[in-house]
Amino acid sequence: GLTLDPSEFFVSDGAKSDSANIQGIFSDDCVVAVQDPAYPVYVDSNVISGRTGKASDNGYEGLVYMPCTEENGFFPDIPDRKVDLIYICSPNNPTGAVATKEQLKTFVDYANQNKAIIFYDSAYASFITDPELPRSIYEVDGAENCAIEFNSFSKTAGFTGVRLAWTIVPKACVTEDSEPGKLHALWTRRQNTFFNGAANIVQAGGVAALSPEGRKQTDEQVSFYLENARIINEGLKSLGITTYGGGNAPYVWLKTPGELSSWDFFDKLLNECHVVGTPGSGFGPAGEGFFRLSAFGHRENVEKAVSSIRDRLQI
Ligand SMILES: Cc1ncc(COP(=O)(O)O)c(C=O)c1O
Repeated sequence: GLTLDPSEFFVSDGAKSDSANIQGIFSDDCVVAVQDPAYPVYVDSNVISGRTGKASDNGYEGLVYMPCTEENGFFPDIPDRKVDLIYICSPNNPTGAVATKEQLKTFVDYANQNKAIIFYDSAYASFITDPELPRSIYEVDGAENCAIEFNSFSKTAGFTGVRLAWTIVPKACVTEDSEPGKLHALWTRRQNTFFNGAANIVQAGGVAALSPEGRKQTDEQVSFYLENARIINEGLKSLGITTYGGGNAPYVWLKTPGELSSWDFFDKLLNECHVVGTPGSGFGPAGEGFFRLSAFGHRENVEKAVSSIRDRLQI
């Protein structure tokens, strides 16, 4: 395995802020590739920074969308042109798909050949139960030369409101004509200037979450949410609805029945079953016709929602 130096870990208040801010240390004319659908922060941070063109029904001009579809198992092919920055999220929000080591290797090889940087969001890594699936991109040889990884206590330890995360910027990571250490120095300067660190009391909570007792409790919590996902998946499948995800992720990604649009299915689910979820089209053009259900909930509510769907959804 790869050995990282503690100075390559940056403790922060969130994978959201870090994955939004990271583009700020790169040139304005970088070409950006995103998984489609994706956690909206990747696209919107680049839109706000002026790195994209106008919005259309097919997304933003100037962005390279990498469609994640049923056909490719919700993991994209490498870009068909030269790009500079690539966002990958695994386990994925919203599709719940987890990249294999072989799939990640195609991107690591592409990035090293093209001097691109991969932003790898592994905020849901603790939901991976399959030992064959990588929990970090650094499990792939050569990733330290091209990948920056984000992780968080939010999903593992329920710190969403507490705020604690970390980002890894290896000193070996290089892009275009930069020397090793340059990106690491830029991110250090960016964080030291714009940010004063996660609160000590919060960091003490993080240390407790990493203790043997803390790990036992967080493992139990993750298993609890995975069981919720299983219950949701089973309920939907019993109605003949096609679903993905959920096995190694807290999200179930369903194909809307009757080829309804994501928003029409939202209305149907709300009106007929009194259940709220997230329309897939909100995550990018390739999310149209899909819908995300979250497993983050009390068991009683999840069971109630699933039986309401089973009893009332008219398909
Ligand atoms: C993929 C992904 N990354 C990051 C985050 C946010 O993490 P944090 O709470 O550490 O900011 C989320 C939360 O929804 C997410 O879905």
